[in-house]
Amino acid sequence: MTLDSLKFRRGLSALLLLLALTAGVGMIVFAAQYEEGGDVPYVPTPPEVVEAMLKLADIKNTDFVVDLGCGDGRIVVMAAEKFGARGRGVDLNPVRIKEAEANAVKAAVTDRAKFVQGNLFEADVKDATVVTLYLLPDVNLKLRPKLLSDLKVGARIVSHSFDMGDWPPEKKIEMGWRRVYLWTVTEQAKKTYGGQ
Ligand SMILES: C[S@@+](CC[C@H](N)C(=O)[O-])C[C@H]1O[C@@H](n2cnc3c(N)ncnc32)[C@H](O)[C@@H]1O
Repeated sequence: MTLDSLKFRRGLSALLLLLALTAGVGMIVFAAQYEEGGDVPYVPTPPEVVEAMLKLADIKNTDFVVDLGCGDGRIVVMAAEKFGARGRGVDLNPVRIKEAEANAVKAAVTDRAKFVQGNLFEADVKDATVVTLYLLPDVNLKLRPKLLSDLKVGARIVSHSFDMGDWPPEKKIEMGWRRVYLWTVTEQAKKTYGGQ
């Protein structure tokens, strides 16, 4: 074996070790973002995308916005602060709920923006006129029957990044690599796409 090939092998081993360590640390960080029992890691929506979501849903001060998996509450807080709407955020993680409540205090919207700790699959959405989501493709699909069963005709659903499978969106906007989708609940959609 030549010195060169020995050096090459050592270099390769060091590189592989570094890659393994990086992947390991990455997985630990990724896992830490998941609340135990949670279905989606915490990744906040950038403010300009939050605003685009609320504009796409044409939020008015008569709307009641429910954000399922609300993180630090930014969607409900902006809906209240900029659009005068009322809303409720639901998140499994109590730390996120504390952050959301603190953000509502900062924005002086505690009368219109409420937050509850709970599982989004069990959340009450019956009074929502708008539901906002930043989840994952399979979570959207799992949630679809509940949304189509519980929401009233005319309610809107806005989703950051992920669609609803074969239920086509009414509108879709692109912001760089991000996508925002809008659906309106209709009797037809309930019949066609509401099955389990
Ligand atoms: C991608 S973040 C979105 C946060 C916020 N909606 C936003 O757009 O900035 C997803 C959030 O869902 C929460 N989450 C995950 N699984 C959940 C579940 N089963 N019930 C309630 N919240 C959940 C996570 O804790 C996290 O805060």
